[in-house]
Amino acid sequence: MTDLDAVLGNAGPTGLKERIAAELAAVRERSLAYTDADDDMLVRQHSPLMSPLVWDLAHVGNYEELWVLREVGGIEPLRPEIDHLYDAFKHPRKDRPSLPLLGPAEARKYISGVRGRVLDVLDQVDLTDPDPLRAAGYVFGLVLQHEHQHDETMLATLQLSRRPGLVRDGELPPGRPAAEPEVHIPAGVFTMGTDTVAWAYDNERPAHRLYLPGYAIDRHPVTNGAYLEFVEDGGYRDPRWWLPQGWEWAERNGVEAPLFWTRDGDTWWRVRFGREEPVPPDEPVQHVSWYEADAYARWAGKRLPTEAEWEKACGGRRYPWGEADPGHLGRWANLGHRAARPAAAGAYPDGASPYGVEQLVGDVWEWTDSWFQPYPGYRCFPYEEYSKVFFGDTYRVLRGGSWATHPSAVRTTFRNWDYPIRRQIFAGFRCARSEE
Ligand SMILES: [Fe+2]
Repeated sequence: MTDLDAVLGNAGPTGLKERIAAELAAVRERSLAYTDADDDMLVRQHSPLMSPLVWDLAHVGNYEELWVLREVGGIEPLRPEIDHLYDAFKHPRKDRPSLPLLGPAEARKYISGVRGRVLDVLDQVDLTDPDPLRAAGYVFGLVLQHEHQHDETMLATLQLSRRPGLVRDGELPPGRPAAEPEVHIPAGVFTMGTDTVAWAYDNERPAHRLYLPGYAIDRHPVTNGAYLEFVEDGGYRDPRWWLPQGWEWAERNGVEAPLFWTRDGDTWWRVRFGREEPVPPDEPVQHVSWYEADAYARWAGKRLPTEAEWEKACGGRRYPWGEADPGHLGRWANLGHRAARPAAAGAYPDGASPYGVEQLVGDVWEWTDSWFQPYPGYRCFPYEEYSKVFFGDTYRVLRGGSWATHPSAVRTTFRNWDYPIRRQIFAGFRCARSEE
């Protein structure tokens, strides 16, 4: 199947344009919902780790302008004087509140002006053109995913701000215990990455064959209940479980539980979008750093999976359950801010991979043991600042998306990365074990 076939299905270019337009409208509705707040909330910096929300808002419009309007549409810059403000590489997050950013009303006006012209470009463009930005609507996939990724970042900012109101109590299926808590994956060759998913990023390419020895991987992500055993067992006070850098980080910052957790007597509480509630034991743990995940795994006599092990456990499909779009939220995975929390372990038996590994996609991003590195034969496209500048041994790879990730911004080959100390993202983990 070619890239184009994979995206078009039976719809053809006209159907694809309609789908792109619908997805663009949906993502914008989402961005506007997260920024439907008073100006002070939007311009304030809630954490030095994060941009003010109004920066994210104008930045998604600026990115759309650069790629769709200028690169593909050949349209003159609308506001060339603001480009540098929204270039993530010119100003670190901590400095962004002191920049002369567009105010909330101006930012909304700017992004809607861009969007109107983007829809004109969509109308005109030939999606069967072999140019890699045009073919199969790649550039639209780029801006769609980018905006959804920023929406998830905005949710992390909102969680840090402790602003109430974003808890959505959508129904999630109940969990069920695993008869066999680990799944054995036999030794052998598998295909990592993709050449055929049309909107895949450059870092997911090219597909390549890789041999892995046999290993065992947890059927479900590690739950709060299991993680609490580590906490109660003094896991945070025992340097045996920690890498030296992780131990030093935890000591220096007084870390003794996941972010947003507090203890009151015998009960652990968490704050979720301003709402305080007891920590639910059956949910996958989230808001732990890579160092905490790594320490837990060592305490449990296991280790974190490599990203190759994580991907192989998905069974070589676009999603663990097959090729079907997870847009029908609820059956296979917990994605798209249906509820503002992970679903209990075992909630998605239908979403299992052919090996029987569950909840690989959705619920929580999963830390892996791997550094973010290019695949053999990597070719940068369309720009270096998406992936290339982050390759090396600084960032750890996360896989699978979280409850906050939109279905169009995740698949089994999708790679995310962050510093091993980061905890504000919606990240948890599962463990693995080498086998003879
Ligand atoms: Fe961005």
